[in-house]
Amino acid sequence: MGDYFVAHQEPGSRRVRKFSRDNHSPRECVIKIESDADVVIARRKGRSMAADIGFEPRDLTRITAAISELARNIIAYAKRGEIVLLSIDQEKRQGIAVVSRDDGPGIRDLSQAMRDGFSTSGRLGLGLPGVKRLMDEFEIVSEPGRGTAVTVRKWKS
Ligand SMILES: Nc1ncnc2c1ncn2[C@@H]1O[C@H](COP(=O)(O)OP(=O)(O)OP(=O)(O)O)[C@@H](O)[C@H]1O
Ligand SMILES: [Mg+2]
Repeated sequence: MGDYFVAHQEPGSRRVRKFSRDNHSPRECVIKIESDADVVIARRKGRSMAADIGFEPRDLTRITAAISELARNIIAYAKRGEIVLLSIDQEKRQGIAVVSRDDGPGIRDLSQAMRDGFSTSGRLGLGLPGVKRLMDEFEIVSEPGRGTAVTVRKWKS
């Protein structure tokens, strides 16, 4: 399988654990999210990291949109949390991983939360399903009372 980096997260955990088949560390950036200004910072850092990896402009837009949705959900539902950006490699592909983590109320029914139009806050309910469509890989882990962690990845084509 070659070099393989994956950001593994658990709700409530403060750490991003990295597994790799060699000792090479991926580049990583952690942004605390508690205000709209932090969302802007996370978008900007994500865009610059993705541009360095070599993503085309269309993908930069998709990646920054995904970061925004995840960060806005942190503020709306958990008040605070963090976004972790990771430059990842797998065999000959390069990509970016975005991990959003919070210790908020969690999501009781994930399949409901992933449905287009489902919102507990009277919003559009397009955030999470939109993020899934924008990125190549999507994982969500949530535990009521403990928090929510979303990991998404996009590979450079
Ligand atoms: N980090 C989170 N913590 C707790 N609940 C969350 C979190 N993120 C999403 N949710 C729950 O999942 C639902 C769906 O999220 P999603 O982002 O798809 O829609 P929304 O935030 O309601 O609306 P939109 O993103 O379109 O403005 C939310 O209404 C909320 O109940
Ligand atoms: Mg949302």
